[in-house]
Amino acid sequence: MEPVVLSSMNLPQVPVIDMEVLLDGDLMDSELSKLHQACKEWGFFQLINHGVSHSLLDKLKAGVEEFFKMPLEDKRKFGKLEGDMEGFDQVFIGSEEKPNCADMFYMITLPEYLRKPHLLPQLPQPFKNALEAYSVELKSTKMKILSFMAKALEMNPEEMEALFEQGLQSMRMNYYSPCHQSDQVTGLHPHSDATGFTILFQLNEIDGLQIRKDGIWIPIKPLPYAFVINIGDILEVITNGTYHSIKHRGVFNSVKERMSIATFLSPRLDGEFGPAPSLLSSEATPKFRRIGHADYFKEYFAHKFSGRSYLDSLRI
Ligand code: SIN
Ligand code: FE2
Repeated sequence: MEPVVLSSMNLPQVPVIDMEVLLDGDLMDSELSKLHQACKEWGFFQLINHGVSHSLLDKLKAGVEEFFKMPLEDKRKFGKLEGDMEGFDQVFIGSEEKPNCADMFYMITLPEYLRKPHLLPQLPQPFKNALEAYSVELKSTKMKILSFMAKALEMNPEEMEALFEQGLQSMRMNYYSPCHQSDQVTGLHPHSDATGFTILFQLNEIDGLQIRKDGIWIPIKPLPYAFVINIGDILEVITNGTYHSIKHRGVFNSVKERMSIATFLSPRLDGEFGPAPSLLSSEATPKFRRIGHADYFKEYFAHKFSGRSYLDSLRI
């Protein structure tokens, strides 16, 4: 029997949300309900007209490209130190029989006092400036998105602010080299993000990211200068399970390299989180337990290595 080939043309596409429409008094309501549906049913959406300038995104892209093009020994100067999650690393991902190489550079960008002196401050000046400006822009984009979500959820917006205004922001730049064996070799294993939410900027509009919906993998077609936004485990907890943190994976492209920068946005590290009190009532009882953010990270990494779903362990 012929295998069923699902062309991406026939698959449903991740919803596209227009920030300018969200900010427009007259049109806001229908866009807000689109956003709400996207977060409930997809856990993913693409954001267009987000207000971050194309010129800044172009500078960022140039900086990331130049960084990954540097000789390995120069990149290794930013290398991960023993026991640290931050820094540059060359990792083999994919299956054991078909390993492929990816360069990754992860660092905490906010709050500023958590920036490692040997990472961001040591980057070539134009790249450093672009990253710093991007970090500021994404903080403001984050607060706008969270306030729209709070409105759509009918949640007290002050609760979102208290959690996220001084929140943790980290970034991971990714360079996936082309994989000549097949375009169906999984690069990044299926996972959900342990964040509040994640903003992904794909630097060169190469397909690669796929999300799990109704039992099938749906590729995301990158739109120029758009952000791909996904709900992470922490927002699933805060919204008491209304918004969903969805599994996604990365697939290598067979001919082209792919570059992206993922910004992870989470609550403040010195606080705790749980289902938002304003979303709870005698009918809507908490589905997750409360946990301190620092403990959450410790427990998350312990679980990751045991292969169990961490979100499930927070369920009541
Ligand atoms: C992810 O971190 O889950 C996706 C990164 C990417 O698509 O490059
Ligand atoms: Fe992810």
